[in-house]
Amino acid sequence: MSQIHFDYTNVLSDRVGPEHGLTQAELEAAAPAARAALEAVLARRTKDLRWLDLPYQDEVLDSILDYASSVAGRFRNVVVLGIGGSALGNIALQSALGSPFHNVEPPPGMARLFVLDNIDPDLVGEFLDLVDPSETVFNVISKSGGTAETMSQFLIFRGRLVELLGEEGHRDHIVVTTDEKNGVLREIVQREGYESFVVPDGVGGRFSVLSPVGLLSSALVGIDVKGLLLGAAEMDQRCRTTELFENPAMLHAVVQHLLHEQHGKPIAVMFPYSHRLADMADWYAQLLAESIGKRKGRSGEDVFRGPTPVRAVGVTDQHSQVQLYTEGPFDKWFTMLTVGTGDHEVPIPRTPAAFADLEGVDYLGGRTLGELFRAERDGTRIALTDAGRPNATLHFESVTARSVGQFIYLLELSVALMGELYDVDAFDQPGVEAGKLAAYALMGRAGYEERRAEIEGSVSGESRTV
Ligand code: PA5
Repeated sequence: MSQIHFDYTNVLSDRVGPEHGLTQAELEAAAPAARAALEAVLARRTKDLRWLDLPYQDEVLDSILDYASSVAGRFRNVVVLGIGGSALGNIALQSALGSPFHNVEPPPGMARLFVLDNIDPDLVGEFLDLVDPSETVFNVISKSGGTAETMSQFLIFRGRLVELLGEEGHRDHIVVTTDEKNGVLREIVQREGYESFVVPDGVGGRFSVLSPVGLLSSALVGIDVKGLLLGAAEMDQRCRTTELFENPAMLHAVVQHLLHEQHGKPIAVMFPYSHRLADMADWYAQLLAESIGKRKGRSGEDVFRGPTPVRAVGVTDQHSQVQLYTEGPFDKWFTMLTVGTGDHEVPIPRTPAAFADLEGVDYLGGRTLGELFRAERDGTRIALTDAGRPNATLHFESVTARSVGQFIYLLELSVALMGELYDVDAFDQPGVEAGKLAAYALMGRAGYEERRAEIEGSVSGESRTV
C-alpha cells in the first residue's frame, strides 16, 4: 500500500472560489502538456537525467553499507563538508529519520552528525574549538569538486588532522564524494588515496540526495538507506503513468504551474505539520528555486521566471506567519505535509483539582499533544480554505525511510516536469555560477583577473550608510 497521498481537494475552485482555485476543466486542459512533459523527462532517463535511476543502484548501496560497517563504532563524529545540494538533503534525512536529539545522545555505537553548510568563521571557528578531529570522519561532498566553500573547509580540517595524526594517519579520517573524473577534489583523492564515492554523471547537486551524496552520511548514522531507495523506486513506478489524475508528480507540477501562471500565486509555501519533515521544506526550497528560477527560457529569450519557495512549520508558524497567509495578499499557495501516525504519543495529565474550575486549561486535561497538534493543523487548513487560499496536502501515513524516499522522488520528478511546463532548463544554475565566479575573482584566483578588474571598475563612488 502506498504511503504518500497528494490531496488536491482544497486547490479546487469549489473550495476556494473560481478566482483563486482551479476548475476540473482547467486541470483536464493541462493534461496533454503534462503528459508531453513526462514523456520528455523520462526519455532522458538513460541519457543526461541519470538521477531518475538512482533508486536502483544496488552495487553502490552495497559499497556504502560496507564502508559504514567497516567504520562502525570507530568515530564519535561524522562531519559533512558540503553546501547546497551537497548538504541540504543530508540535513533533511537526518531530521526526518533520526532523533531530533541524536547529537545529544546518539544510539550506542553511533556517531553524532554535523553538516557544516556554511563558511561563516563564527560557525567553523566554534566547531574547531568544540570537536576533536581525531575522533571524527569528514565526508567531503562536492559534485563539481571545486566549490570554494567546501574546498576551504577541506583544507582547514585536513590541516588539523595532519597536525594531530600526521600525513599517513589523517587519511582514513576523510571520505570524499565527488565526480568520478572531473574536479580538483578527484585529483586530490587520487594523490592522497582517500576512500571515495562517486556522484554519477547526470546527477546534479540538488537531484543528488539519493546518490552517495545523501546516502553515505545517512548510513553512517544508522538511517535505513535501503528503505529510502525502495520508497523512491515505488514512487518511480507510480509516476510512470501518463494519466494526470493517477500520477502525483504530474499533478503536483500542474497545480504549481497553473496556480502561479494563471491565478497569480508566485509564492509556494511548503508547510510541514511535522517536526521531522521541517528540513525537507528547506531541501525543497533549493530544488524549486534553483531549478525553475531562471532568466532565460529554453530558446534563449529573457523570461525572468520562477516561483518563490517559502518554508513554514506547523504549529510554530501559526504564531508567526499564518496571519499573513489568511489575510494578506492572494499571492501564495500551500503544500501542507501531514503525518497520520507519529511515533510518540504524549498525554496531557488530567486537570488537577486545583484548576478544575478553570475552563482555559480544563479542556486540555486528559487529552494528548497529538490531538491538539492535529486539531491546530486541521484548524489552519480550514482557515486557509475559508479565506480562499489554495492548499494541497502531501500526506504521510507515517514518516519512514520508505515514505521519505517516495516524497523525495515525487518532488524531484515534479520539479523536472515544471521545467517543461515553465519552459526553462531545470538542470542548470547560471545564476549560482555567476556568484561563484565573482568570488573567485575577489579572492585573486588565477585566470579571473579580468573579472576582478570589471568588478572593481563597477564599484565606484562613495557608499551611503546611516
Ligand atoms: O544544485 C546545485 O547544483 C548546487 O546547489 C550545488 O549543489 C552547490 O552549488 C554545491 O556544488 P558542489 O556540489 O559542486 O560543491
